Amino acid sequence: MPQLDRDAAQAWIRRWDLQQEDHLPDREDRFTALIDAVEAGTGRSDPLIIDLGCGPGSLSVRLLDRIPGATIVAVDADPVMLALARAAYGDRAGLHFATVDLRSPGWSGQLNLERPADAAVSTTALHWLSPEALSAMYVELGQALRPGGLLLNGDQLRIDESDSPVLARLDEALLNREEKRRFPNGHAESWSGWWDAVAADPALADPVAEREAWRDHADHHGWASRLLATHIDALRGAGFAEAGTLWQRGENRLLCAVR
Ligand SMILES: C[S@@+](CC[C@H](N)C(=O)[O-])C[C@H]1O[C@@H](n2cnc3c(N)ncnc32)[C@H](O)[C@@H]1O
Repeated sequence: MPQLDRDAAQAWIRRWDLQQEDHLPDREDRFTALIDAVEAGTGRSDPLIIDLGCGPGSLSVRLLDRIPGATIVAVDADPVMLALARAAYGDRAGLHFATVDLRSPGWSGQLNLERPADAAVSTTALHWLSPEALSAMYVELGQALRPGGLLLNGDQLRIDESDSPVLARLDEALLNREEKRRFPNGHAESWSGWWDAVAADPALADPVAEREAWRDHADHHGWASRLLATHIDALRGAGFAEAGTLWQRGENRLLCAVR
């Protein structure tokens, strides 16, 4: 069976980044704003940061590139994502990957943090959790962060239609128009196209098989927590002192909460 080497893993991650960016053209700008906020908000050159739903490590490595003294504990439950991340960046100083399901009670204890974290970051991941699982996750996150510690969550989070129907409709209308302007010829690679290609790589056969088993138990809801209000309410309920949008383009936002 062929082995997954570092070059092959990095090539898959480049293709992942292209696929993600093709559907989220402001992805790099959002990464930049998020890292600006980590720099400005933690006030130290050696912050301890948790990356929630790290995928193949795209945000973690960008954080380390800009803040080389940081320690990053990057968390995901997907065996394929983690296999790629570990093969590509497993030897990177300051970067630690943890196989942890954010829905499991006690998840933060599995990270073996040496001190309360200065920040938790996340991109395009937390909308996957059900509102109940999200609330429980934020409660536990509050206990893992130091007082004044930050959550910085970059995600596509929408206006609540039941609260503001006209704004929600206009939000959607602007998104649709922008989508047509930016992508008049459609998209280069879809989410499922990337996953189909990964599944056909013999070097990834083991993690792909593990992923199938994990998905059977994953209770996926896709966009279960895509309303901004779901996150704000859950963060307030978890005891975060402030919560709001720091950066935004359409539904694509950087949500910040202060422990
Ligand atoms: C769209 S990817 C984003 C990855 C990366 N943050 C990025 O921006 O490229 C969403 C990630 O969230 C992870 N995820 C979803 N539910 C999870 C859970 N319950 N526990 C841990 N990770 C989860 C998925 O496995 C996936 O890697």
